Amino acid sequence: MLKLIEKKQRGEELTAEEIDRLIADFTAGAVPDYQMAALLMAICFKGFSDEEIVSLTLALLESGDHWELPVKFHPVLDKHSTGGVGDKASLLMVPMLAAEGYKVPKMSGRGLAHTGGTIDKLESIPGFCAELSREDALRQLDDIGCVIMSQSEGLVPAEKKLYALRDVTVTVSQPELIISSILSKKLASGATHIIIDVKYGSGAFFASRVDAETFAERLIAISRSFEPEFAAVVTNMNQPLGSAVGNALEIAEVLRIVEERDVECEVSALCIALGGALLKLAGEVERAKQGEDILAQTLADGRAADKLRALVSAQGGDLDAFNREMNSIDMKTCKVAITAQSSGAIAGVNALAIGQFCHRQGAGRTRKGETINPWVGVMLHKKTGDAVASGDLLAEAYARLDCDESSVEEEVRSAYIIGEEATAPRLIDTIVNS
Ligand code: URA
Repeated sequence: MLKLIEKKQRGEELTAEEIDRLIADFTAGAVPDYQMAALLMAICFKGFSDEEIVSLTLALLESGDHWELPVKFHPVLDKHSTGGVGDKASLLMVPMLAAEGYKVPKMSGRGLAHTGGTIDKLESIPGFCAELSREDALRQLDDIGCVIMSQSEGLVPAEKKLYALRDVTVTVSQPELIISSILSKKLASGATHIIIDVKYGSGAFFASRVDAETFAERLIAISRSFEPEFAAVVTNMNQPLGSAVGNALEIAEVLRIVEERDVECEVSALCIALGGALLKLAGEVERAKQGEDILAQTLADGRAADKLRALVSAQGGDLDAFNREMNSIDMKTCKVAITAQSSGAIAGVNALAIGQFCHRQGAGRTRKGETINPWVGVMLHKKTGDAVASGDLLAEAYARLDCDESSVEEEVRSAYIIGEEATAPRLIDTIVNS
């Protein structure tokens, strides 16, 4: 280990054998966290070559099982987001794709720092079970075409362990480590075609669009070393996605979208764009626009709603019980209205500030295994580009019952920037094809 750390400190490349051995030893518990942390930090400063990224990806993949899905399921579709605030796209996109007859085995994670996790959101539905055996997941995939489950224990265990260490050593945002982390998980899940939503902005890992594009291009170039096909879409995460941030609030937003068949809202627009690019990648359509139209139709005719209900119910979730819980959210949280103090237009809603506020209220964890509060969050009533008059409702915070209302008001209001005029930002930027 000491030699490896020194080698990387000097900026030299690690060989495939060295990386294999390192990950095997780390998985077996033979590498202390402090030495791995030192190596991770050296990687942050000196970088990782494309060959090293491929070797690390393979070593992480080899640390556990891989899912091989029957050919009759092909093409097997998947999506992944680099993480954001209010990002509930998987909850809509998975049923949309499955409603069109595709198989979508989605492995999702829990919230990390200020970003939410799909599994935490789904677990706000009473009875929902995200821990499925491989057999149960395959049966469900056969029956209804989709599953959203947490990354099973046996799948890329080294990635899980490494991620936990990166999280507490501030090495999560290192782009080359992110590429290996994403590719190893996606290669293990048995998908044949995968779309990556690379987010940039205040609530994302990448600060600027250029950084996100550079990352997406490198990820796609490296993904060509592997059999599944990948494409990436670069999207804006300067403000939270959609209206809701917070676990149960985001589930309620997705239920509203499917029930009202709202094809126009921001969340639908993102899912339709990602889905169109994915269907093109899979060769199911010639142009992404055709794929977009196909998926929009699943929402417009109610099939996405049916599929979402089927998914939740197959995994034990009770949506009636969820709706009853939501009806009494005012008793579980302290609701604080945030109004505008001046007139003009919303020039920005800081995603990081909103995400961190929700996290502090208990929507996320500060320690592994901590219990979260599914009910806290923020509903945004105004978003970037909207006109606003003094006194208008900007947002409603659902804070902890013991919160200090005036600091809640101040924290959420400070996420809003009101200017003289503003335009709605573009949500979807570059598409990087395989
Ligand atoms: N998302 C991932 O899956 N892995 C990372 O390392 C960062 C974001």
